[in-house]
Amino acid sequence: MIIPFISKGLNSKKRVVSLRKLLPLENPKKYTVTAALPYANGPLHLGHLAGAYLPSDIYVRYLKMNKRDVVFVCGSDEHGAAITLRAKKEGETPQEIVDQYHTINKKAFEDFGIDFSIYHRTSAPEHHEMAQKFFLELNDKDTFTKQTTEQYYDEENNQFLADRYISGECPKCSNPNAYGDQCEKCGSDLSPMDLINPKSTISGNKPVLKETSHWFLPMERHEEWLTSWIQEGKIHGKQLHNPKEWKNQVTGQVMSWINAGLKPRAMTRDLDWGVKVPLEGADGKVLYVWLDAPIGYISATKKWAEDNGKNWEDYWKVNSETGEAETKLIHFIGKDNIVFHSIIFPILLKQHGEYVLPDNVPANEFLNLEGDKLSTSRNWAVWLHEYLEEYPDKIDELRYVLTSIMPESKDSEFTWKDYQDRINNELVAIFGNFVNRVVVLTNKYYEGVVPEASEVSDSDKLIIEEVKQTAIKIGESMEAYRFREALSGAMNIARIGNKYLQDSEPWKLIKTDPERVKTIMKIALQISANLAVAFAPFMPKKAKQLEQMLGLTDSLDWNDLGSFSLIQENTKINQAELLFNKIEDELVVTQLAKLEASKLDNVPAEPIKEEITFDDFTKLDVRIGKIVEAEKVKKTKKLLHLKVDVGGEIRTIVSGIAESYTPEQVIGKQVSVLVNLAPRAIKGIESQGMILMAENKEGKLSFVNPSEDYIESGNSVS
Ligand code: 2FM
Ligand code: ZN
Repeated sequence: MIIPFISKGLNSKKRVVSLRKLLPLENPKKYTVTAALPYANGPLHLGHLAGAYLPSDIYVRYLKMNKRDVVFVCGSDEHGAAITLRAKKEGETPQEIVDQYHTINKKAFEDFGIDFSIYHRTSAPEHHEMAQKFFLELNDKDTFTKQTTEQYYDEENNQFLADRYISGECPKCSNPNAYGDQCEKCGSDLSPMDLINPKSTISGNKPVLKETSHWFLPMERHEEWLTSWIQEGKIHGKQLHNPKEWKNQVTGQVMSWINAGLKPRAMTRDLDWGVKVPLEGADGKVLYVWLDAPIGYISATKKWAEDNGKNWEDYWKVNSETGEAETKLIHFIGKDNIVFHSIIFPILLKQHGEYVLPDNVPANEFLNLEGDKLSTSRNWAVWLHEYLEEYPDKIDELRYVLTSIMPESKDSEFTWKDYQDRINNELVAIFGNFVNRVVVLTNKYYEGVVPEASEVSDSDKLIIEEVKQTAIKIGESMEAYRFREALSGAMNIARIGNKYLQDSEPWKLIKTDPERVKTIMKIALQISANLAVAFAPFMPKKAKQLEQMLGLTDSLDWNDLGSFSLIQENTKINQAELLFNKIEDELVVTQLAKLEASKLDNVPAEPIKEEITFDDFTKLDVRIGKIVEAEKVKKTKKLLHLKVDVGGEIRTIVSGIAESYTPEQVIGKQVSVLVNLAPRAIKGIESQGMILMAENKEGKLSFVNPSEDYIESGNSVS
């Protein structure tokens, strides 16, 4: 049977109606989408992207293609022990550290196409102001209890030890290096008092107990409404969200916390880096980073609103007249952040009274890398800024691979071989191949002018229906935050297109039935245009390229997905360009070698002695010296009596190197000398310094000497 091409039920208006039905009955007026603020203490890796940033970006692009009013906020989390400890370790100020990583990460996100409305930072004065105001408002509502408790204290550094400032043995899994807030090995949440044999991570010393006062959030007071909110989506009988839309692992984790019994948690810290507690008697105290960081979402929205002529409160507060939420707040995070976004922050928002609560917290699980956990400290990672530098033309390809393996319901794994396979077998062989054939043939048969088609066959109709059904499923997956499934639906449209061309063989029919070929090519062009729409949230650059190739001028609208009127007859398309290139084995080999090398670099040096601080290290005055005289110390096997020129001054040094060097071998040698070591008598000779030596596994000694002869004696070594 032959039916007209623009048949009833296949035009775009009809599609709008059917897709609209998928949306929640009462659409909110606005969407407030947040992505976890990454700590500005290191670069971003693929785990960060797959966890929070790529899914949120895909979702926001989808919302925008649906013409929804959305703000998408993120920024650097610049407070907390992760930052101050890193600064101490590097010998820099916390501000220097956050300035450096804020810039790197902001740029990496932009280059990767994560389209935040604003990428703010918590060290900004506007944020400090808002966090203080929020804290004071909560304090006025008796949200906190002030308690004086004994806490661990480092006497050498005059500092209380919370969170990562203290480590010790985990009481649950015996990991000897658990922190005061968490054991990274078994994932348990801990408090410093839980640690066995605690020690300060700054000095390595055993801490003492000392009294200090803090503002605590009595979380146990909120168990009842939290339970109803999480399990039923209701507070005091009022339906706020649909709990069936929440991921099982999120609800499960929250309920296990509540069932274990919530406890009071300190919301302030004794530190000099952070948002100052704006109360009398709170000198030297700052807000707990997990109180201040989520408020960062609000201060970022405020800044964005001010810069864009909007009202930030529309995106955060309930309507003061109706008491109804008019925005959907959605937090995209990794699973380690669930408790903060699904218990602590909701408590604070509810206590405040004017704010909406999150409609959903679609937390992702973790991404592993080549069979091992991703780890910043072990350098086991693919760093985003490095990838962007190495493969600036393969950005959307990485977005595609990461979405295909996104850890939406369980941990998943990135491997370079899989990266290659997905790009070559899916993007190149299916998507790219289909589009290329369509564009090349249209140019060849019609000089790029979209042909006029009159009739569609039964088999055409089936294909059109198949695309339409696939489009509906993609929409459902997007609404349910199932982006892997949505992406695979998009690729199915390309598969349908490929099969259609393969089955209808226009390249054969062109000689015998050119009229039929016009219809085939017209349908194939419409499928190509559908691909531009379906892939746009996932691969925005490639979608744009395809759009331009097909001569589409209107901005892509999600409601056009499934339409077969996207490209009009007689419009001119452009020449074919390859959308994707094959990934050669060489890339995989190079990247695997790079990872292997990082493994070697990172075999942790076995500590022989206790850890020292940077400040300890800077106390050492090490100079270049030249041995000018040497003789054995009588009646000893190991000792040499040396005279060393350390820049004009001759020092007497007794050194235990006689089993490795004869006096003749050392005279004239340049060496490194510790010159501010307190003098001490050895075998009756006053030794006024120490020669630095290196020792190999067999105990053989060698000088730590400057390699260049022109380095003058007396110069310092650093
Ligand atoms: O885990 C982290 O990297 C935190 N910096 C996330 C903060 S999310 C929010 F609360 F700001
Ligand atoms: Zn543990």
